[in-house]
Amino acid sequence: MFKYLTLFVIASTLVACGQSSTMIAESGQQQSLREMLALPDHMPVPHVPDFNPLTPEKIKLGRFLFYDTRLSANETQSCSSCHLQELAFADGVETPFGSTGHALVRNSQGLANVVYHTTFTWSNDGFLELEDQLNVPIRAENPIELGVTDAFVDEVLSRFDDDAMYVEMFREAFPESNSGASINKIIFALASFVRTMISAGSPYDRYLMGDRSALTERQIKGFQLFNGEKFECFHCHGGINFSVSYRDANTSFDTIQFPFFNNGLYNVDGNGGYPVEDQGLYDLTHDPADKGLFRPQNLRNIALTGPYMHDGSIATLREVIEHYARGGRLLELGPNAGDGNLSPLKSGLIRQFDATEEEIEAVIAFLHALTDNEFVTNPKFSNPFIEPQ
Ligand code: HEC
Ligand code: HEC
Repeated sequence: MFKYLTLFVIASTLVACGQSSTMIAESGQQQSLREMLALPDHMPVPHVPDFNPLTPEKIKLGRFLFYDTRLSANETQSCSSCHLQELAFADGVETPFGSTGHALVRNSQGLANVVYHTTFTWSNDGFLELEDQLNVPIRAENPIELGVTDAFVDEVLSRFDDDAMYVEMFREAFPESNSGASINKIIFALASFVRTMISAGSPYDRYLMGDRSALTERQIKGFQLFNGEKFECFHCHGGINFSVSYRDANTSFDTIQFPFFNNGLYNVDGNGGYPVEDQGLYDLTHDPADKGLFRPQNLRNIALTGPYMHDGSIATLREVIEHYARGGRLLELGPNAGDGNLSPLKSGLIRQFDATEEEIEAVIAFLHALTDNEFVTNPKFSNPFIEPQ
């Protein structure tokens, strides 16, 4: 298991990392990937593992599977039940329910630019490829999401093997195999589709590409505040993807960072404790110093993906910023009451600061400049079972 880092020295180097990678010469393979993904120049070519190269056929199969309720044991849910395109593939609720009604403790993540993260989910330092993570929604028993447990796996696979359209798509996506559908093939196809979900058409992107009128003055001011030493946002949400959990095709594995931070959301027991149902990385490592450690989320399309944080416990971007300005959240009532500002476990970067109303408005306006209307309406990512109007 890899050692995660909570030091902030790494953050400033990663800001450079996201921006310099386009200057590195791209291999022929990387150039064809850039073309396949229709990446604009300012976006680095993403990391795709050698064991699952991206092909149009796998992407197509993945798109059908993503929207197909036959991929849940009881045929009630698909990936898109919790990941909706119009919400940048989040779902708008604090925490969702799985296909059998099981309540999940975590908020559904938006899926824009997931491919640039070094680890997957809100807090897991062992999920280094999307293929590792995707077993969870499909196969997990506790809590159940799609519920394709051992008892149901043959039945679910036979639904695809009995459908001529899928037989053809599986054959085209995996020409080296003629054994029909399998969980591995499903995961490889879904990972391929999710890797194509790249958002690079927001006003912020147009600004980066040279259109100086793409951002309002207030948004530019907000961008400066976001990147300044008072607000400190960039230390954890830095670089082209607004997260220091960052990797692209040119990041050498030795230099990859695995950053997780406690941002002062809870302090239940005065010792920095988090609600028992989700204590972040601690639940995997059982090291008390890891309580409340989560991956800094990328902020692309953030205005669409609320409610916020790993448990959806902050409703609006204004409250998010107020939480940071306070140096941690104060919960006065309820079982999770406590003052995050006094947490001994919060990151040293979470410090109280005075923000004027105008400054808060500017940062909110900047975060809205990360909304990419092209991404949320792009037919490439839409439900293939619905005929376009
Ligand atoms: C019942 C709701 C639900 C369903 C169904 C579901 N997800 Fe998720 N998804 C979530 C939640 C909640 C998380 C955050 C999980 C965590 O942090 O442990 C998540 C996280 C993810 C991530 C990680 C994102 C990141 O930024 O690291 C990916 C990728 C993903 N889901 C893709 C899928 C795919 C593909 C499917 C279909 C096979 C799917 N999900 C089905 C709720 C769901
Ligand atoms: C010390 C690192 C750190 C700093 C500094 C920081 N963040 Fe975060 N941010 C995180 C982490 C970690 C999470 C996820 C925490 C959780 O879910 O418990 C997060 C979550 C968020 C979210 C919610 C994301 C989502 O999808 O729900 C927003 C919005 C956000 N941060 C914005 C900001 C802004 C704006 C600033 C500057 C005022 C900032 N952050 C400063 C680490 C940081």
